[in-house]
Amino acid sequence: MASAVHRLVVDIHTHVYLPRYASLLRQRATVPRILTHQDPSGKAEERLVILNDEPAEGRPVGSQYWDRTEKLNFMNKHDIDISVVSTANPWLDFLSPNEAQGMAAELNEDLEEYCMSAPILPDTTFRRIYGFGLVPLVPGAPVSSVVNAVHQIHALPHLRGIILGTQGLGKGLDDPALDPVWDAAEKSGLVVFIHPHYGVGGEQWVTHGNGHVLPLALGFPFETATAATRLILSGVLDRFPFLRLLLAHSGGALPALSSRLASCIMHDAQVANRLKHDARYYLGKLYYDAVAYGPEELGFLSEVVARAGRYESATGSTAPADRNVGSQRMLFGTDNPFFPPANGNAERWRSVTENTEAIEAVPGWTPDSRNGVFGANAISLFNLGGRA
Ligand code: URA
Ligand code: ZN
Repeated sequence: MASAVHRLVVDIHTHVYLPRYASLLRQRATVPRILTHQDPSGKAEERLVILNDEPAEGRPVGSQYWDRTEKLNFMNKHDIDISVVSTANPWLDFLSPNEAQGMAAELNEDLEEYCMSAPILPDTTFRRIYGFGLVPLVPGAPVSSVVNAVHQIHALPHLRGIILGTQGLGKGLDDPALDPVWDAAEKSGLVVFIHPHYGVGGEQWVTHGNGHVLPLALGFPFETATAATRLILSGVLDRFPFLRLLLAHSGGALPALSSRLASCIMHDAQVANRLKHDARYYLGKLYYDAVAYGPEELGFLSEVVARAGRYESATGSTAPADRNVGSQRMLFGTDNPFFPPANGNAERWRSVTENTEAIEAVPGWTPDSRNGVFGANAISLFNLGGRA
């Protein structure tokens, strides 16, 4: 573990299934579920099946998903000082409104306890673990129950954000009925982490022995890009300019497509005059994890984010985009406990070291920018120094 004299490393994309949630998944006979799988030698192993189109045997699941000691061991092994943990997909999406409301309230209390009883980072006032809470955002839910959950999360001192999927109340996150939720989130200052689960293009994934590659590598990033684009197009970012939205997996496909998006908007009479700004402007209002696995991708994202400043006014400026400015909206993450080493028990996980090495290697970033992405940006965005 790094000491206070080293830069702080904060992992803002790291998941748990709390014991109460894992029990819920074990009780289920349909996806999402945890089932017990017997291998040909008769050895029993628990498996997680959460994606509708994933191989029926799912993925191995164990205490690394629910045991806090394992989370701390993982952090220590990878020099991570602080984690901001979130329930992994599919959250409460599959529950009835009543069930989701009860579960959200209980799991938020459970997560507060999980964080509050974690150790303090030596020589600092930081706790080693903070969290993102859950809201009962499911089809048919009263919006007031979602707003109440935002208030509950805000009142729990170690919860500093909310994690959301993209279904909303069944009509996506651009549903105008969700305005009270965005309003409550904006007023609370909580960070809203938008994370994929369903994928876009599932009909293309029919696996020919391709495991989870197509949904995770392509379906997830297009889902995130679609959700963020719909938020832009519906004017949510114009109506709630101080909303702190954090996009998973470095914004998915959005950064690569934002100029095409802007052009499509400009050439469509139905939407051409709807937004206050060029679509590229909104990319500078969002936050992004740095879970892209390559220095070129991180560098590109930081440039696209910095470029947004050119679209602040209608005339725009032609100043070159400074990657260091864009990097201030990017934050280190691991996606733990997903993506363990495929063969065996490597001491350090490649899914982590690729991201740390990528941050170190981005062309054009100063040491301050790298420190920012590793931890300083998270300290400030989540106000980690604020409440002990
Ligand atoms: N697979 C998932 O289902 N979720 C993640 O967050 C990462 C991989
Ligand atoms: Zn994730």
